[in-house]
Parts: sequence; structure tokens; C-alpha cells
Amino acid sequence: MSISPDPRILAIRLSEEDHTRIRSSLDAALSPDSYRIHDVSDREHARDLLASAAWDVALLGIDSAAAGPSGEMDLAVQLQAIGSETTLLLMTRSPTVTLLTSAMRLGITDCITEKTSAEELASAILRAVQRTKAARALHQQRIDKDSAHDLYQKKVDVLQSQLTNLQEAVIAALLTAQEARERGARIHCLRVRAYAAHLAEVSGYPKSLRPHLERAALLHDIGKIALPDTVLMRPGILMPDALEDLKPHAVLGEQILDGIEFLRPAALIVRHHHERFDGSGYPDSLTSESIPLGARLFSIVDALDAITNDQNYRAAQSFQDAVEEIARWSGRQFDPYLVAQFRQIPPEEWKEIRERIEADANPMSNELSPQDSPSSLP
Ligand SMILES: [Fe+2]
Repeated sequence: MSISPDPRILAIRLSEEDHTRIRSSLDAALSPDSYRIHDVSDREHARDLLASAAWDVALLGIDSAAAGPSGEMDLAVQLQAIGSETTLLLMTRSPTVTLLTSAMRLGITDCITEKTSAEELASAILRAVQRTKAARALHQQRIDKDSAHDLYQKKVDVLQSQLTNLQEAVIAALLTAQEARERGARIHCLRVRAYAAHLAEVSGYPKSLRPHLERAALLHDIGKIALPDTVLMRPGILMPDALEDLKPHAVLGEQILDGIEFLRPAALIVRHHHERFDGSGYPDSLTSESIPLGARLFSIVDALDAITNDQNYRAAQSFQDAVEEIARWSGRQFDPYLVAQFRQIPPEEWKEIRERIEADANPMSNELSPQDSPSSLP
């Protein structure tokens, strides 16, 4: 039988007679120079040695008379725990049923007795060596596999982070473009994004859809950048025909976002953010549940922000007034279920959100003044 490299055998508490017998058996099976046996009699020292070096076999001499579950097998249990890949063999003169049962429970498959022949003894030790090497190889495979998985996961995390940054940059660029054409648009979009997220949380809006809802809130009026200056920058209070001219921004917004894959789900909300529950909205005059849920939710917080900010046709109202006004339009402009959810939120919470968003926003790019505030669209 051949085995390499030289196996290392830790012989624990073996009698002189047992040790001699093992040496002669191994000498007969292997070259005397091709293995190493280290003797140790003290159990503390045995534990230290097993923990500090890679042994191929730990051969434990057991006194059968004391080999009960709480006797010398305790040491075997401890050694098994320490040398997780080292194969442990027992050596006892006349094994008891208790000893063999305890050994089997520990997964020790070979027990060497006085009846074990020299050839069987050498084979048992060499089997143990092979078993240890196989266990080590398996252990290394697991480490390699874990390392490869960790590396893969890190790459995925980096790519995901880059993708998120890229998506945020696209949204920021669109918002900057809108702000350039309509001062104050950006802070309005940031506020309604935060309001939409809050109402989504309170009303149980599906978590998986919330990123699309928030992107739609940020970009709901992006279609305005495609409107002519004569429409977008018309001063004063807008007359009905001028309000009519603004309406295409919903469809234009959808068209802009529909060409950007990660914004496509948001595009649908943008298209329908001016629909009304009773069918009097635009662009498709949809009614009740045929209006996308995100659009129904968004229209409430868009109105909340319009009412609580100065407009060119009326001064800002309090959040309390805004909640009451929106409630009056429940079932007509707004979804009654969502309005009921909306009314559970104390007006102070909306105020706190507004203050947080405006404090976080870059003051250089968001100079708030009444005339700069976003107009309330028809
Ligand atoms: Fe709009």
C-alpha cells in the first residue's frame, strides 16, 4: 500500500506494548522512514498537540474498564472536536459494547483490539490517513468555493452600486434640465417624492413598486421640458386655453421616460398623474381603478404640495386645510380608499417631511420664492 507524503500519527496514551506492536505493523506495511509517530501520555498535552499541528491520525489508547460515556471516552469526544479533519482511532485490548457504541456515535469506524492482526492494523491506519486527506481536500474545496462566491458577490455588489449611481445620475440630469426651464421644479419634485413615499408606506403600497413610484414622483412633470417657451413661461394667472396648452406634458413625460428602460414603469404613472377618479382628468379620462394605483396615490400628494405652496392664483394654505380640501374631493378627483389612508396621517407629519426635505436640499439650486414655486397644473 502506498501513501504520501509521510503520514503523521499522534499516539495518545498507548501502552509500551501497544506502541511496539503498531511500529512493527507499520514497519511491515511501509518503509520505516515513511511515517512519523509522536507519543504523548498527558491528556492536556494531547489536546494541545492535536490543536497545534496537522495530524493524519490520532490513535487513542483506551482502558476498556473505564470507557463508559463519562469515562475515557470524554477525551475522545474532546479530540474529535479539536481535530475536525484528523481521523481518530481507538485502541483497546478487549472492547465493551458500551465503548463500541460510544465510538460509533462519534463516527469512529475503526477500533483496534488485541485480536487485530498486524496487517489489519496497518490497513486501518492507512485507511485513516486516506480519510483525513479526503476530509482536508473537501474542507479546502469548501473554502475555495466560499472564496469564489464571496468574490462573485463583491463583483455583483460593485456592479449594482455602479448601476444605482448611473440611474441616480440620469434622474438628476433630467431634474436639472427641468429646473433650468422651470425654477423651483426640483424642490417641488423632491417634496412630492417624499410625500409619495410616506403615503405609500401608510397605505401599504407594494414595496417592490415603490422605487418606480418615487421615480415617477421625481419626474412627473418632466414632459414640461418639451413644451414651447410660450406655454411654459407664460406669466400671470393661466386662462383655460393656456391650461389646455399645458396638458400635453403628461404624455410627453411618458414618451421621454419610456425610452429609458429602468424608468419605463414610472412612465405609466407619469402619463396618468392628472387622471381623476371620476373620469374628468387627462390624458385618457380613465376612471377609478383603471387609473394606475401609483398615479392615484401621486395625484393626492401632488395636490397636497400645490395647496401648501404659494401659487400665482392663490396663497399657500396650511397642511390641515390641504387635508380637508383633498378630503372634499374624495371620490371625484381622488381615490376614496387612498384619501381615507391619507387622512390617517396627522398634518404635522407632512410639515416635518417638508422641513426635512427643504433642509436637505441644496440651497444653491433651490431658491424658494412664491413666484418660483411650481404652478398647480390643471
Ligand atoms: Fe403635472
